[in-house]
Amino acid sequence: MYLGILRQKPHCFRMQKKPLIIANWKMHKTASEAQHYVSKLMPLVKDYLENVFIAAPFTSIRAASKIARHTGLKVGAQNVSEFFEGAYTGEISAGMIKDSGAEFCIVGHSERRHIFGESNHQVKEKLLCLLEKKLIPVLCIGETKKQRDEGHTASVLKEQLHESLEGIESSQIKKIMVAYEPVWAIGTGAVASPDLANETHELIRKIITENWGDEVQSTPILYGGSVKPDNAKELLQKTHIDGALVGGASLEPQSFAKIILEGFQS
Ligand code: PGA
Repeated sequence: MYLGILRQKPHCFRMQKKPLIIANWKMHKTASEAQHYVSKLMPLVKDYLENVFIAAPFTSIRAASKIARHTGLKVGAQNVSEFFEGAYTGEISAGMIKDSGAEFCIVGHSERRHIFGESNHQVKEKLLCLLEKKLIPVLCIGETKKQRDEGHTASVLKEQLHESLEGIESSQIKKIMVAYEPVWAIGTGAVASPDLANETHELIRKIITENWGDEVQSTPILYGGSVKPDNAKELLQKTHIDGALVGGASLEPQSFAKIILEGFQS
């Protein structure tokens, strides 16, 4: 799928923005909880299902995707192995998540980088496995508080993008989504201001177009980090913010639905 078609910018004031909104459940929800959640969420956002994504734990992907089948809502994973198959005890491959019903997968989330020591090189290998299996990668990047305070944000983002996407052609880059998630904003309530997030998204777009050309101009860039029903609209109104990756506030269907509805009013 060419994601540019889902990222429709308001070229004139009458056109409605169509943000992409991803729930990241992290390590929450069993298969039956996932089923219950999806059946509650869908009627609340029935007009926007094409733009709604749920990143579920591996064990809940099948249950959630069964209910979402043919509705437009996409279910995906939060991580994937960097290997295709083999003697890698405990790992889950791109082929396996696809077979479970996943259509996309988050890679390089800061919790994977910081708690599990994932490197940009591993992120790139994971991304390649996903592209090979025609799953949409959602590449997470973002700086820590210290890096921002010391003025290193641009160089950190540049390095994360270069190292995780090195050697990948523009025709493939067009198939990914980028999620800018400042580490200091994740799970802290310290959401980035809409202006700061917008500026950083503009910078990310500049980095990717400088390297991969205008062809990747409409790569969706989502913001993540303490997105809530009461700040979603202001963030999603910004020109360079094409959607949101939502953790804590996605755990209740009502709260996640509110974010989606706010996004579509932005
Ligand atoms: P949060 O998490 O919305 O709870 O800050 C976002 C994320 O980790 O993707």
